Amino acid sequence: MIEKLKLISEGKAKSLYETSNSSELLMVYRDDTSAFDGKKKEALKGKGIINNKFNAFIMEHLSKNNVETHFIKLIEDNESLVRRLDMLPVECVVRNIATGSLCRRLGVEEGIKFKEPLFEFFLKDDDLGDPLINDNHITAFGWGTEEEIEKMKEITFRINDLLCKLFEEVGLILVDYKVEYGRSSGSLLLGDEFTPDGCRIWDVETGESLDKDRFRKDLGDVVESYQIVAHKLGITL
Ligand code: CDP
Repeated sequence: MIEKLKLISEGKAKSLYETSNSSELLMVYRDDTSAFDGKKKEALKGKGIINNKFNAFIMEHLSKNNVETHFIKLIEDNESLVRRLDMLPVECVVRNIATGSLCRRLGVEEGIKFKEPLFEFFLKDDDLGDPLINDNHITAFGWGTEEEIEKMKEITFRINDLLCKLFEEVGLILVDYKVEYGRSSGSLLLGDEFTPDGCRIWDVETGESLDKDRFRKDLGDVVESYQIVAHKLGITL
């Protein structure tokens, strides 16, 4: 058993604890669900377990395909062991189809498929509503180096290729997603999580949303939809 020592951060859906190994942390997935920068909140029974297992499956798939991640192993139904990272305060979003904040910001029609995947940086700051930023903000404020920016783009696009294929094979479309990176002994690793809380997944046949948009838009069956995606991908819950 891995002992949970000091609570070092309590995010909107996960808590992080120190362990007896100073370079490893315990990530606890809670049922708490939030949207609109934390303004809408609810606990959805069973979501923590699904997201933990979903994330483990995706991180292992990425790792097998040479994407370095912080994920070490599953510990409990809702707990995973991860490498401690020094997180960059930015969110990397890749979009394949227009929806969400992009449509509001640019007046683009929902559902348009881009000629090529679109990459965007956002500043991780709920109070400011996670504003869109560009490469220059990152270097000017010292949030990351030019080399780190290039690496984040390169890895995030590579993740897109790998995951679009994985989802497509089971009749799902990866519409868009957000990932975060952190530093560990000089290298940049994928951190945080990859779950239906931080991406959009549509059923190719019905166009139905099977991700956190069900919560954002009060469509119901949030956890059930995450389960459908997990089942299609062959994740054992
Ligand atoms: O969520 P919203 O529509 O405001 O934002 P978006 O910019 O359209 O989000 C693009 C993708 O990143 C979606 O899959 C979101 O779920 C994800 N995202 C996230 O996980 N966390 C954020 N703070 C912002 C976006």
